[in-house]
Amino acid sequence: MSKIAVVGTGYVGLVSGAILSDFGHTITCVDIDETKINNLKQGIIPIYEPGLENVVKKNYKNKRLDFTTNIKEAVENNDVIFIAVGTPPADDGSADLQYVLAVAKSIAEHMNGYKVIVDKSTVPIGTGQKVKAMIQETLISRGLEYAFDVVSNPEFLREGSAVQDFTHPDRVVIGAESDRAFEVMKEVYRVLYINETPFVETNIETAEMIKYASNAFLAMKITFINEVANVCEQVGADVQKVAKAMGQDGRISPKFLHAGPGYGGSCFPKDTMALARIAQDVGEPISLIETTVQANERQKKRMVDKIVSAMEDVNGKTIAVLGITFKPKTDDMRDAPSLIILPELVSRGAKLKIYDPEGKKEGTWRLKNIEEAIEWSEDTYDAIKDTEAIVLLTEWNEFRNLDFDKLRDINGGEFFFDLRNIYNKATMLEKGFKYYGVGV
Ligand code: UDX
Repeated sequence: MSKIAVVGTGYVGLVSGAILSDFGHTITCVDIDETKINNLKQGIIPIYEPGLENVVKKNYKNKRLDFTTNIKEAVENNDVIFIAVGTPPADDGSADLQYVLAVAKSIAEHMNGYKVIVDKSTVPIGTGQKVKAMIQETLISRGLEYAFDVVSNPEFLREGSAVQDFTHPDRVVIGAESDRAFEVMKEVYRVLYINETPFVETNIETAEMIKYASNAFLAMKITFINEVANVCEQVGADVQKVAKAMGQDGRISPKFLHAGPGYGGSCFPKDTMALARIAQDVGEPISLIETTVQANERQKKRMVDKIVSAMEDVNGKTIAVLGITFKPKTDDMRDAPSLIILPELVSRGAKLKIYDPEGKKEGTWRLKNIEEAIEWSEDTYDAIKDTEAIVLLTEWNEFRNLDFDKLRDINGGEFFFDLRNIYNKATMLEKGFKYYGVGV
């Protein structure tokens, strides 16, 4: 059993802390936000993530998981300290490291012996060394010489399935500089280690690069199929079949080959830009990633063109919007395609009736600039009632089995823009819809 502090109770920190406590460790989650900490103690989870609430409540109750704003005590009382604070994009696309480095400093200010400091946040290559330098510098200024190790241990959690991803990872990546640190980390992930999860042991820089390269590759894969989809539309091919057959080639794999309105979320947009920036800075630009970023922006705009040209004009027309979060099973709207597509439709005169099972709260402020054109609905059919078109933007399960007779009864739109390809085009055309998917 290890004693671990996790600094930052955002998405990554909270999931990591909660599941590590479920692995049998004693975990202290630290945050500067007192309200958040008090809420967590009462079992109020700041994000919607399936399965997380139960894990948090169970382990808080059995005292393996605790929450505090006191970083001093958290550092003093624990041997391993995870840094899981945000690395938002700076204006030039690079990741802003101020929060990570501030935590590193504060760890060093309270160190009272050997500690392993683990970077869990996605950070540019070289950050581990900056964290190390910050700790060393701060210890020197305190006149102390404690031994410590910095480790890079990137996360590969998908929102909506983060609990499953943490407990059943494809691999655990550990970048460190001493055997002692590797041993400590194996103990942290003992449950996975004994279950024969592959462990990649490497240096800090390689671990940092693995995270960026993996995310950028997945973003590129999605963008590739999106662009192939656009060509499919022009030449009468079906991208769903193309992707399926491509995926049957083991070298390609079927995953992340679903054409859609462009990738969004807290990782792909930020990480592709950061990697492009890092590559430029070292004089080795990765043109594939730069193109991916641009093509993904184009893809979102293309969805607007698709809708507007099919309907000829959207001015004064009411459109039902099903789903606004960047993907299902999350309330997260960071860089969601809806944030580009919906304001653009409104700027062309459309009115929107929106339903999203979890997105209303965040959507209300993120779409504030177009609030006058929005009516929020409490369910799918309420959103669809008396509209001219349906735009399905997020593939929530509850949108997969719409009652088409009911749609007719409530005067639902005859245009159906299925931007996630969850319906079959031929069937939808047969039902009388003017149906448009992506690449079908
Ligand atoms: C991603 C990575 O998968 C995860 O490993 C990393 O650590 C964090 O970023 P996440 O952003 O939660 O996870 O979601 P993911 O399921 O990867 O989807 C990202 C975006 O790509 C979404 O907007 C999704 O709709 C889109 N997507 C995904 C597609 O358009 N097509 C696909 O085939 C897959």
